[in-house]
Amino acid sequence: MSHQHRLYFNALAQEWPSRREPETELEARLEGFDIGEGDWILDLGAGKGRLAAALRSRCGTGGRIVALDCAERMLAAGADEYTAAGVEPLCCDASLLALRAESFDKAVCLGTWPHFRHPQRVMQELLRILRPGGGLLILHTCSSRELNRYHALLPGVVAADRLVSARTLARELAGCGFVSLLHEEGPRQYRVQAQKPGGEPS
Ligand SMILES: C[S@@+](CC[C@H](N)C(=O)[O-])C[C@H]1O[C@@H](n2cnc3c(N)ncnc32)[C@H](O)[C@@H]1O
Repeated sequence: MSHQHRLYFNALAQEWPSRREPETELEARLEGFDIGEGDWILDLGAGKGRLAAALRSRCGTGGRIVALDCAERMLAAGADEYTAAGVEPLCCDASLLALRAESFDKAVCLGTWPHFRHPQRVMQELLRILRPGGGLLILHTCSSRELNRYHALLPGVVAADRLVSARTLARELAGCGFVSLLHEEGPRQYRVQAQKPGGEPS
């Protein structure tokens, strides 16, 4: 893990917003991802629980949601959000997931992918913990070009963090063993969707 990223996000935890947009906007971004009642969902790089309520409303009370983040202060600062939505915080690095193999139906990663030091390892770990046929959704609320321009202006370790284009990320996921389902980006949106091979035919 990047210890510097952990320190960076820990230092920002108090001022980091839990919510950035109306709930309906987040709900809309989850459209087409097919989260079902009772699904087990991993929120990767969950921060202070921006997705917690939206995920809960999709998987219902029978679902399980784990909010994973390497910055313990981000998770602690989001405790109210997590408790309200019945979400389990887990402090852990994305490249070494302390989770059982083939235990999750879905993994979502909002606003976090460019911060991973070892994205290939993260992909392999996601392949390991997802059930056959399990889905992965990588989201940003702007294009890679917009995000990279923004990061370059920031002080600290994230200034060098770059998001590859949605097309490139889809290709990298396919190279790692995922089935690539969709990639699109434009102003105010970036979406890459993939699936672990196998599972029941739908
Ligand atoms: C830009 S924030 C996004 C947080 C949240 N998803 C949101 O949209 O508000 C990125 C988050 O990813 C976490 N993070 C960065 N690198 C990580 C890693 N290697 N493993 C787990 N979490 C990581 C950071 O601690 C931070 O909380």
